[in-house]
Amino acid sequence: SGYRLPAPIELLDADAICAAISPRLAARLGPLHVFHELDSTNNWLREQSHAGVPSGSVCLAEMQSAGRGRRGRRWVSPFAANLYLSLLWRSAAGVAALGGLSLVTGIAVLRCLRAQGLETIGLKWPNDILAGDAKLAGVLIDVVGESSGPCAVILGVGINVCMPTLAAEGIEQGWTDLQRLCSADVMPSRNRLAASLLEHLLPAIAEFEKSGLQPFLEEWHRYDVVTGREVDLHLPGGTVSGTACGIDEGGALLVDTPQGRQRFTSCEVSVRIAS
Ligand code: BTN
Repeated sequence: SGYRLPAPIELLDADAICAAISPRLAARLGPLHVFHELDSTNNWLREQSHAGVPSGSVCLAEMQSAGRGRRGRRWVSPFAANLYLSLLWRSAAGVAALGGLSLVTGIAVLRCLRAQGLETIGLKWPNDILAGDAKLAGVLIDVVGESSGPCAVILGVGINVCMPTLAAEGIEQGWTDLQRLCSADVMPSRNRLAASLLEHLLPAIAEFEKSGLQPFLEEWHRYDVVTGREVDLHLPGGTVSGTACGIDEGGALLVDTPQGRQRFTSCEVSVRIAS
């Protein structure tokens, strides 16, 4: 009689997350907040950025009532099932210097997930993490500030950990989660996963700040699952189709189209794998 949970619920715990972060990286971390429910962790940190919270501030929520995906999509965010984490980073360099950061964030998430033993996952430009053609994690970046002055960047990461089937009915694209990809004995705890994500995000941002996208290009090419495939690019003015052929030094997507090779930046296009 009564209820039986298929798996024990592990709630997020700020102390457990901080305890799992190495002291070297903890020094770079700002305050870490865990909420039961927010509209969106990115929205909350964006509001806090106006109140002057320090670089390295982190926010997680057990659920998001209005989780945001890229291009105005909804990010399905049921309670205690997945990871919804945002990190605030202040940059003196301004918005113009941020080209490539969204790809670097995707690489940091990929590194974190590979460190959990997921060796077959890959990157789909600009920053989706895929297992096969199914989306496992996504990145949403918001920027507050001037184009040439100091700005605050909010790096939002959503990782599907244990997506309830009912909640997943609202997802408009192919998806997967860690539970489907990992055997039960290596399934990471969400608190450890959050700590690992921060352990990978913080050094990646620091390296990007120092050296830009260049040190990440080889890794991007290694895990890029789009190159060589037919793609449809959905632009405000219509759809462009062609064969993806990697990224350039600035992180723009290169596509061979009937009109020749074209270059697309993350703000202008989305990519859909056509075959
Ligand atoms: C995408 O691939 O469309 C981006 C998904 C980003 C989702 C995360 S969950 C934490 C943060 N808060 C949000 O509202 N969105 C991001």
